[in-house]
Amino acid sequence: MELKQIYAPIQKDLDKVKDTLKSISRIDYEWLSKQLNYIVSETGKGMRPALTLLAGKLYHYNLTYLLPMSVSVELMHTATLVHDDAIDKASTRRGQVTINSKWGDEIAILMGDFLFAKAGEFVSDTQTPRVIKLFSQTLGIISSGEIGQFRGAYNINQDRDSYYRRIYRKTGSLFSLATQSGAILGKAPEESVAIMKEYADNLGIAFQVVDDILDFTSTAEALGKPVGSDLIQGTLTLPAIFIIERNPKDNPVGRFFKNRDKKDVAEAIDIVKNTGIIKECYKIAGDYCEKACRNLKSLPDVESRRAFYDLAEFVIKQGM
Ligand code: IPE
Ligand code: IPE
Ligand code: MG
Ligand code: MG
Repeated sequence: MELKQIYAPIQKDLDKVKDTLKSISRIDYEWLSKQLNYIVSETGKGMRPALTLLAGKLYHYNLTYLLPMSVSVELMHTATLVHDDAIDKASTRRGQVTINSKWGDEIAILMGDFLFAKAGEFVSDTQTPRVIKLFSQTLGIISSGEIGQFRGAYNINQDRDSYYRRIYRKTGSLFSLATQSGAILGKAPEESVAIMKEYADNLGIAFQVVDDILDFTSTAEALGKPVGSDLIQGTLTLPAIFIIERNPKDNPVGRFFKNRDKKDVAEAIDIVKNTGIIKECYKIAGDYCEKACRNLKSLPDVESRRAFYDLAEFVIKQGM
């Protein structure tokens, strides 16, 4: 199923999110205004604001608060991408040249800060201290994930559990903010907020596992961003952990992290693609999606509940 179909219950409001996002470029500083417009006009899949709206739709849908919240999560996401691309030295994002490539890391840092500030402004429009606090906590958790990843670069002594913890921080936590805030602002009972947290924590992990698979298997054209860069950046992801586990004493990942010879990257990619590792990684992503969905049946039987199942299926079918 395509995203468009999955988003059907909230599509018209997701369009409002996109319009509101564009409004942040209306500032009295022409150069910055142009750059902001460049960033927010390519919106990507919109998965996080969609999650907020869908969660908000389970009970008492109130766009007065759900709209700024959805804009806020997408702005936080966009800000983290602008920073992430500077850290990862990425040249493209959403099919266009990154801010760091265009203007350098300094501007990317400051532009990311601007976007975080705007995200904060929008979340405060929810007038709901609980989600404002969750927003701030999430930003801290994402930062800790990215710091952990950076500090762990080129270190092969990281097991699967430390990988899952890291990707929960950098990716799962924001998915979780998206659904929890939607549920809270939609006046969901606490049990449902908890189900939405469980869903998004696990969906976010699955999503990052698949993103990490695609870094080995996909193309820059298909993703609109560079591929094959995780290993080169020294980021140990699940496919690479499989290679190490299978041959801990001598493997191309360990050799590359030690000597930085690109022929070892080529060998690692070859092993991932030809020895069943991809299938095993998809299986793990599938298990996380199953975990994500296991309590959805306790939510009210409304059309947005169906969308959560479909979105989980969409996530694990990407690139298949
Ligand atoms: C990219 O997220 C960052 C990751 C968590 C892998 P998305 O793939 O959702 O990016 P956009 O918003 O669609 O561009
Ligand atoms: C996700 O990790 C980045 C953030 C959560 C900020 P990646 O580094 O894998 O994301 P992409 O592949 O650049 O989109
Ligand atoms: Mg990156
Ligand atoms: Mg990636």
